[in-house]
Amino acid sequence: MTNVPPLDLTRQYEIIREQINAKVQDVLASGRYIGGSIVDDFEKQFAKYIDVSHCVSCNSGTDALFLALRAVNIGPGDEVITTPFTFFATTEVISAVGATPIFIDINPQTFNLDIQQLEAAITEKTKAILPVHLFGQPVDMTKLMAIARQYNLIVIEDCAQATGAEWNNKKVGSFGDIGCLVFFLLKI
Ligand SMILES: Cc1ncc(COP(=O)(O)O)c(C=O)c1O
Repeated sequence: MTNVPPLDLTRQYEIIREQINAKVQDVLASGRYIGGSIVDDFEKQFAKYIDVSHCVSCNSGTDALFLALRAVNIGPGDEVITTPFTFFATTEVISAVGATPIFIDINPQTFNLDIQQLEAAITEKTKAILPVHLFGQPVDMTKLMAIARQYNLIVIEDCAQATGAEWNNKKVGSFGDIGCLVFFLLKI
């Protein structure tokens, strides 16, 4: 029986071994393990890559989503429309800030939330939409943003599984008010 590992990053590492080792050495030599110019530099370069004005790095995608909801004052009494088919953190953070997740079903072709069902789920309590670009496949952000603007709703994009994915030649994470992206090693 052949043992095929689910993930093997050693070959990718070999290709850029020298750059990675040099950067790790820079961090160790700087004596700064939190923040500092290397993190600032990353945030600037990443904001440029996504084509947004600001990037703030966090310890996890869950925290990025949680902080995004807190940053726009979402809390008890607010409803956030999202998808039931995602990693549990998407819904967990909505509950963690005291808001109520409202699920709309997914489109069986894309596995992403079904835009056709979006308007019917909007109530007086709806404050935000939290679309998830699952498996690297972007949500139709043209239609979603049009509905969000029409109803004056905040959009927080969960791009944890879609860093670098594009909708109409524009990176996911740059459509909504805040985008949350992830670099965990199993991610795209
Ligand atoms: C769709 C989705 N949202 C959020 C997260 C949370 O990211 P993290 O595991 O870095 O907290 C993940 C990660 O698995 C994810 O797949």
